[in-house]
Amino acid sequence: MNVLLLGSGGREHALAWGIRKSRYLNNLYIAPGNAGTAAVGTNVPVGVADFGAIKQFSLDHDIDMVVVGPEVPLVEGIYDYFHEDEDICHIAVIGPSGKGAQLEGSKDFAKRFMESYHIPTARFTTVTLDNVAEGNAFLDSLAAPYVLKADGLASGKGVLIVDDLNEAKRLLWEMLNGKFGAASNRVVIEEFLSGIECSVFVLTDGKSYKILPVAKDYKRIGEGDTGLNTGGMGAVSPVPFADEVFMEKVRNRIVEPTIEGLRNEKIEYKGFIFLGLINVGGEPKVIEYNVRMGDPETEVVIPLVRSDLLELLTAVATETLDEKILETDDRYAVTVMMVSGGYPGEYEKGKVIGGLDMVQDSIVFHAGTKEEGGKIVTSGGRVLSVTSYGRTMDEALDTSYRNIAGISFENSYCRKDIGFDLH
Ligand code: AMP
Ligand code: GLY
Repeated sequence: MNVLLLGSGGREHALAWGIRKSRYLNNLYIAPGNAGTAAVGTNVPVGVADFGAIKQFSLDHDIDMVVVGPEVPLVEGIYDYFHEDEDICHIAVIGPSGKGAQLEGSKDFAKRFMESYHIPTARFTTVTLDNVAEGNAFLDSLAAPYVLKADGLASGKGVLIVDDLNEAKRLLWEMLNGKFGAASNRVVIEEFLSGIECSVFVLTDGKSYKILPVAKDYKRIGEGDTGLNTGGMGAVSPVPFADEVFMEKVRNRIVEPTIEGLRNEKIEYKGFIFLGLINVGGEPKVIEYNVRMGDPETEVVIPLVRSDLLELLTAVATETLDEKILETDDRYAVTVMMVSGGYPGEYEKGKVIGGLDMVQDSIVFHAGTKEEGGKIVTSGGRVLSVTSYGRTMDEALDTSYRNIAGISFENSYCRKDIGFDLH
């Protein structure tokens, strides 16, 4: 098979690494990719949302499957774009239809979907400039802290958690007046849920599903989960508190009603569903849906999948996932992100990365790198995701930290406490 993978981060390097191992693979292309994906496939200079160029490339290179890494092309309707064009409708697209992608593209859509199918989540109300008074009254009815979410995509920045009631009302007003552009013309106000979070990934062909290994990511820049939010500083899988009892609840109360809801609403969905869950006293509740894999969770989840990834994705495309068995590794996998100093604020790019050839027993997934004059240099805030296996979480972490000590670029930083809350 010839596969075109869209994206350029650590998630895409991990997906490319998984697809590369498939016995069904002929050619793998990554658009636009990074210096890491160039080692497992061919990078092509095409943007992830340039549908016209993606179509032309797919025709020219006899592509059989397009695997979509990030959410933007999905929310912009790449699945429908392929399905509705007779020149390319034979090409499988791994991802939901545009309607399905609304589970991530609109927080209000996702909340109403959960309400319709009795999927446990925080109480909420949705507000526009037309009913601000209702929003303020809902805030009055809640206890602090207050959760305000821009309805649309806001590059992961659209959620505000505020301690003071008057501040929450002021920020609600600002959001409705364009704080996050059109994305916050509608705002979802939610009850605050207290608990520990985890990420559950479901692969579905729209009828049947497989639950992939559960992961936990670490979003804040500082140790002990302090400081600014980032794209993710590390991840661990499996997650000890997501035990059989918890996962049985996840399956019965969340995964099955979600698949049932998609079928009932006649929403085509052939891809990954990312459930952002919170464990509230042993009860799983949905914080958010995403319609793609997580980053950096993919850098631990894909290394734990032993089944042929392309075979599973083909079964998704042909709606035969129920005939497949998902085999997984029973070890721990962890990943630690090396980032550019200053991130998630301002940081410099173009720093030469050394020591990659000395790495032993870890897999280095590239997140923000590129090749320049025969050298690999930094090209983003998140630079390298260093993944290791272990019989225990600590054994895996020791291996990642040992290898990180041998990798160098100017001003690099990583969190030393990944997994700290799972002991
Ligand atoms: P989201 O972009 O929806 O993932 O939200 C970003 C982060 O805000 C989540 O990962 C949670 O840590 C937090 N969060 C979102 N909604 C809630 C909620 N209802 N209660 C507590 N924390 C929340
Ligand atoms: N790690 C969270 C995300 O990918 O959205």
